[in-house]
Amino acid sequence: MVSLPCSPLARDRIVKSDLVSFDAVMTSSFFDRKRTLFDRWAPNYDVLFTTVFYQAIHQRLLEFLELPPSPRILDLGCGTGRLLDRLATTYPDLQGTGVDLSSEMLQQARRRNRFPDRIDFQSGNVEHLPFDGEQFDAVFCTVSFLHYPHPDRAISEVDRVLKAGGRFYLVDYLPFEFLNTESAASVSTAGLKFYTRSQRESLAKPVSWTCEAHHHLLIRIVLTVFCKASNEMMG
Ligand SMILES: C[S@@+](CC[C@H](N)C(=O)[O-])C[C@H]1O[C@@H](n2cnc3c(N)ncnc32)[C@H](O)[C@@H]1O
Repeated sequence: MVSLPCSPLARDRIVKSDLVSFDAVMTSSFFDRKRTLFDRWAPNYDVLFTTVFYQAIHQRLLEFLELPPSPRILDLGCGTGRLLDRLATTYPDLQGTGVDLSSEMLQQARRRNRFPDRIDFQSGNVEHLPFDGEQFDAVFCTVSFLHYPHPDRAISEVDRVLKAGGRFYLVDYLPFEFLNTESAASVSTAGLKFYTRSQRESLAKPVSWTCEAHHHLLIRIVLTVFCKASNEMMG
């Protein structure tokens, strides 16, 4: 039997540090499973029906963009890089970076990159983005946010890397009726999280973003546009 030190404070500290390590182990195995799932999906990702659907979503998304001249943009959970390809085609002066957990998705994206002088791809987890602060005019996230176990961490990282006045374009499914929409986020049995329009607005409160609009794109897919305060507003 393990004997714990008698001081209640010391015991509390041990329990707390155990919980932190437990959370870290659970989280890392969660991400390993996600990575494996997407690594397997990557070689066929662009030929499956779902992706044809996602590309229709990218096309619709273009209708709602407001980008400054020569924008620097980031695509979170970029998959095979199709959205960045579309953006680089539409905006000839755009510089973009895609980040993804899955090395196989990134391999597909790099192999097909038609704009290597303007678009690059990096391995990374949305919870610890491999970038300095205030780098990007806009951050995109299409059909990836539902996979994030800690949405607050993702939002805080997006806030860190966005320039003042920058926008976050969040595109994802609305909750499905068979899921409980009363909770903070509806969670499917596969652990996917879906957010209503008002839950998306709540996500942005800790970072004080303005929610500019929600746009229905296709079927249950909604774009939510957030804006980080500009320097004048902050000053
Ligand atoms: C359904 S795919 C969407 C890909 C692309 N955005 C699109 O619109 O086709 C979801 C992507 O998110 C990535 N992803 C999931 N969780 C992630 C995380 N925590 N950090 C970075 N990428 C993640 C997956 O590896 C996968 O490539």
